[in-house]
Amino acid sequence: MFSAKLLVQALLATAVLAIPNSKERLATRTARRQGKPANLISAAKVTTNEFAVQEELSSNWAGAILIADTATYVSVTGTFTVPNVLTDNDNVMECAAAWVGIDGSTGCEGAILQTGIDFCVASDEKTQSFDAWYEFFPADVNFFDGFPLSVGDSITATATVFTPTSGSLTLINNSKDVTMSVNVTSSTASLCQTNAEWIIEDYTSDPELPNWGTVTFTDAFATTLSGAQVTPGDGDATLIDIELFSPDFEEDEVMTQSSVDGNTVAVKYAPALGGF
Ligand SMILES: *[C@@H]1O[C@H](CO)[C@@H](O)[C@H](O)[C@H]1NC(C)=O
Ligand SMILES: *[C@@H]1O[C@H](CO)[C@@H](O)[C@H](O)[C@H]1NC(C)=O
Repeated sequence: MFSAKLLVQALLATAVLAIPNSKERLATRTARRQGKPANLISAAKVTTNEFAVQEELSSNWAGAILIADTATYVSVTGTFTVPNVLTDNDNVMECAAAWVGIDGSTGCEGAILQTGIDFCVASDEKTQSFDAWYEFFPADVNFFDGFPLSVGDSITATATVFTPTSGSLTLINNSKDVTMSVNVTSSTASLCQTNAEWIIEDYTSDPELPNWGTVTFTDAFATTLSGAQVTPGDGDATLIDIELFSPDFEEDEVMTQSSVDGNTVAVKYAPALGGF
């Protein structure tokens, strides 16, 4: 299976956006989690449910990306609901993240200014856990300690660029009017301001993804250097979906279905072959 995964990554490398694997971030975040479980794979039940493949596929990102040729984006924001995250698997903890960010995709893989939440579910479908975080990749993730997160909460995430090496990251829990904001600087990253994105990320190194239903970013827009607001729809954002190798089917499986409508980005958990 290990070699199969490598093969898939090699195959994907020709077809997907060059998005940093974020192994450093993964190691850091997963290291903070209790007992990341073994990679147990449950038998998938459905072999159909094909749907149109989106413009881009990634091993770790799904959602929408505004892409500009030159420095354009100053901030990105979106509001989403903390998902009631489920799993069919036993003896695993499955995690994904919802976030907004600047850069990290086409032509600017070396820096990402981003903030959002991790959502995880343990095997019994009862134990859910959430973390609020911010990150100026390639620096390690930091957590907004004490930020309240519960299923159904409305969360607004915003990343704002001050200079290519500095910015602010803000999370708001609209339900309880809790705001946490931080200013960050980087000595290693330099933002290009050519991407603004709304993303669900498979940030673990395991192939399992939790079932988050659909996470919908609303009131989504980016601001530009000229002071304009651009929505994902107006900006003709590029859709991206996660494709992973299914050990059960011994082939790649598209795991998500992303869509854009005006100022809304929806990312549905929609495994083409039945999930893991
Ligand atoms: C936001 O914080 C509250 C309180 O902490 C928490 O109960 C809720 O689940 C979170 N969302 C909202 C509403 O706060
Ligand atoms: C971040 O920097 C801005 C601009 O200098 C400032 O207005 C704001 O108060 C700072 N925020 C924090 C949390 O330090």
